Amino acid sequence: MAGTGFSHKPKDVPKVNSQFRKIVTKLPVPESVPLLERLYETESLAMHGQLPIIWDRAENFQVYDAWGNCWIDFSSTIFVTNSGHGNPRIVKALRDVLDKPLLHTYTFATSERIEYLDYLIKNTPSQFEKAFLLSAGTEATECALKLMRMHGQKVGKRQGGILCFEGNWHGRTLGAQLMGWNPKQKEWIGFSDENVHHLPFPYPWRKDAMSDPVEYFRIGLEKLVADTGIDLKRDLSGVMFETFQGWGAVFYPKAFVQAVVEFAHDNEMLVTFDEMQSGFGRTGELFGYMHYEVEPDLLCCGKGAASSLPLALVLGSKKVMDLPDIGSMSSTHSANPMVCVAGKANLQALLEDGLIDNSRKLGVIFHQRLAKMIQRFPNHLSSVQGKGLVAAMIFTDRDSKPLSTLCDHIAETLMCRGVIVVHTGRESIKLAPPLSITLAAMEEGLDVIEQTIADCIELS
Ligand SMILES: Cc1ncc(COP(=O)(O)O)c(C=O)c1O
Repeated sequence: MAGTGFSHKPKDVPKVNSQFRKIVTKLPVPESVPLLERLYETESLAMHGQLPIIWDRAENFQVYDAWGNCWIDFSSTIFVTNSGHGNPRIVKALRDVLDKPLLHTYTFATSERIEYLDYLIKNTPSQFEKAFLLSAGTEATECALKLMRMHGQKVGKRQGGILCFEGNWHGRTLGAQLMGWNPKQKEWIGFSDENVHHLPFPYPWRKDAMSDPVEYFRIGLEKLVADTGIDLKRDLSGVMFETFQGWGAVFYPKAFVQAVVEFAHDNEMLVTFDEMQSGFGRTGELFGYMHYEVEPDLLCCGKGAASSLPLALVLGSKKVMDLPDIGSMSSTHSANPMVCVAGKANLQALLEDGLIDNSRKLGVIFHQRLAKMIQRFPNHLSSVQGKGLVAAMIFTDRDSKPLSTLCDHIAETLMCRGVIVVHTGRESIKLAPPLSITLAAMEEGLDVIEQTIADCIELS
């Protein structure tokens, strides 16, 4: 069938009727297949390839279809619904705006925007004095690129060089793709930006990076100078971190990040963290960069910022956020009143309903369970990365060969057993339940995941 890698042939699967899951039909549901086909006819191919489920309703940590099936969600769609699907605070706030009604205002002021920005700035670290609201994460990383370069120009840099990292990802628009690594994804661009420099990523499986992360960074810089001839002081305007590397939830060693930040600040560069996946409580802290004990200049957020509607944002100091003049940075749909109330209600839920604490506390149990699975499947599950309620299980064989097909099979089998995970198309499976998940539901999901891995390995 066009548009998907997963089978669309309905097959009999064992019925499930547990506390948190229900599977009562063949899967995919026979009636859903013609509907999916209609979608593949009218929507561009790039949007497809997802597990064949038609979502009808989603509440807290559960997803329902229209045919009686119910899944425990370990995806949060794609690290978005941090405060839970259909969080009641968000639904109420949206209803209130709908009932007014006030659905779009462009850059005209609204009380919704005033109140959201007030709450956001009050509840984020003090170096973040202003925010710029946008709709997509890729707009936020583009905006940070612009701000880092404008700042570089202001302080007299010769070039707008940006340090980025091998393997990282920042979105799909031009600047975001240039800062990202994946060479294949950039083929369409047809040129590279000679002022975007990628340094080696300190992966935990690189012994030299782990034994001396600071030296690893220094050697990376030295090689950069040797390869490009740039002057580190005069030609670099900023550094862009993805807080953890997405596909594998891979964090950097703390000493590495601290060395990069110190270098950047010694050289009048701005430090940006792309917090798209790691922000708003996901890793057990409000922002993921907090694990590194550094102070970034700019933060790019999206996804979990509203746990629902399209909200992305850049946070920074007044000095930096006010670099673009009036009218020179705007976006038609940004700061929409509905999005603003969703953003405020979401942050209130995370902070006032203990969801970040839940992420931290349940995260400990979550990672203990996953670490045990490495011991159980030593020939297939080579590592588990992540913090709080995000984890990537990385599947390689004894010779470090990626086991992507096994991951596809595990994701599909989990769907048939009532658990949704993030299918990366690579040798990893990512787990990221809403931060509002209960211990009992998390444990039920993890039991199913463990058994499914065992079964899929046996069949492989
Ligand atoms: C780390 C990171 N940066 C940027 C983006 C782009 O966000 P969006 O898809 O909202 O444009 C993503 C989205 O997956 C991401 O994971």
